[in-house]
Amino acid sequence: MAFSKSQVFDVFREKYGVPDMYVFAPGRANIIGEHTDYTLGYVLPFATQQGVHFWVKKTETREFEVFALDTREEIRFLVSDIKDDSQKLWQTYLHHSFQQLGLKDVSFGLSVVFGGDLPIGAGMSSSSALTCGFLFLLNHVYSCGFDVNELVRLAVKAEHGSGVLGGMMDQYTILSGKKDYALLLDCESASHEYIPVHTDPYAFYLINTNVKHQLVDSPYNTRRKQSEEALQIIRQTKGEPELLYKNIENDAFLDGLEDPVLIKRARHIIFENKRTLQMTQFLKNKNFAACGQLLIQSHESLSKDYEVSCEELDFLVSLASGQDGWSGGRMMGGGFGGCTINLMKTNQAEKIFEILSEAYFKKFGIAPDLLKVEPSDGVFLSIFV
Ligand code: GLA
Repeated sequence: MAFSKSQVFDVFREKYGVPDMYVFAPGRANIIGEHTDYTLGYVLPFATQQGVHFWVKKTETREFEVFALDTREEIRFLVSDIKDDSQKLWQTYLHHSFQQLGLKDVSFGLSVVFGGDLPIGAGMSSSSALTCGFLFLLNHVYSCGFDVNELVRLAVKAEHGSGVLGGMMDQYTILSGKKDYALLLDCESASHEYIPVHTDPYAFYLINTNVKHQLVDSPYNTRRKQSEEALQIIRQTKGEPELLYKNIENDAFLDGLEDPVLIKRARHIIFENKRTLQMTQFLKNKNFAACGQLLIQSHESLSKDYEVSCEELDFLVSLASGQDGWSGGRMMGGGFGGCTINLMKTNQAEKIFEILSEAYFKKFGIAPDLLKVEPSDGVFLSIFV
């Protein structure tokens, strides 16, 4: 279910009265650089205009009351006895946010209602938006004093608490996004360069398969382990203990690897890092045909070498290729379902989607969704006095 800023506000008024703060935490889309963040490579994501709205008020007591509009669940608690509840994932993120900030007791509590328009489990980082929104809010309200880079680190750790050993791409983007720009993020130095995204007459569109095949954690964590293992072997073979994938020049580096699975995993990461750097150039030069080609190559590699795609994602990409006005596309995010990201002409996007949607429904009996995504600002907070 999607909720607008004013819908979340209305629920807040009804439940808790007049709010005195508002926080917006965006989702994230990723142009390219998929499964490269946790081996300290390059990614090229942006914050989206879709996200999570939090309306907030300080309470007279130390009690917290938090209402999740999407699931209509409310929890009341004192920071001193907040509990993990694996049944409510959002509560786990909230719990870990308090923990990461070192907040054990506070002199006043908060009333919070949150809800938004990020599809859950679609690879747009709804969970990171929640975590970053909570962290940003609590850091401000309780004057914890963490800067943005430290918040990224805390958000990553807070989410690891839920079992998925993700990289830093989502949290970094949500906290540092900027309207009209993507971030070329170097995950080794945890620093970024803003890359202008002026794609007119094209734009980025997500097509949501509306499927999620597996609990993401186990295959995701396996990919992470395999890619780290492959890198260790490459480092030993080359005698370069500090070597990173992003600095590997070509696939001659794969020589020391015997396991065909590890070869495939490493090959994806080596070339995905290169595609990410190339993409920044093509975007700057507005060479949208070349941008599209890189997206298609990335999908091929994610599907065949990294093996994180699925039938539905492959179907959407393969059917889209050849459509007039479609420059390129690929699966986006962790994989095994979720969205494809597509660079399409704005005046043809609806038509292309109709064709894909009809064929997709015929084959899988599921209706996909179309979502235009535009580079937007990162988390922000407004105070009303
Ligand atoms: C998930 C993780 C990210 C990243 C992507 C794949 O979204 O949270 O850190 O690894 O998958 O690129």
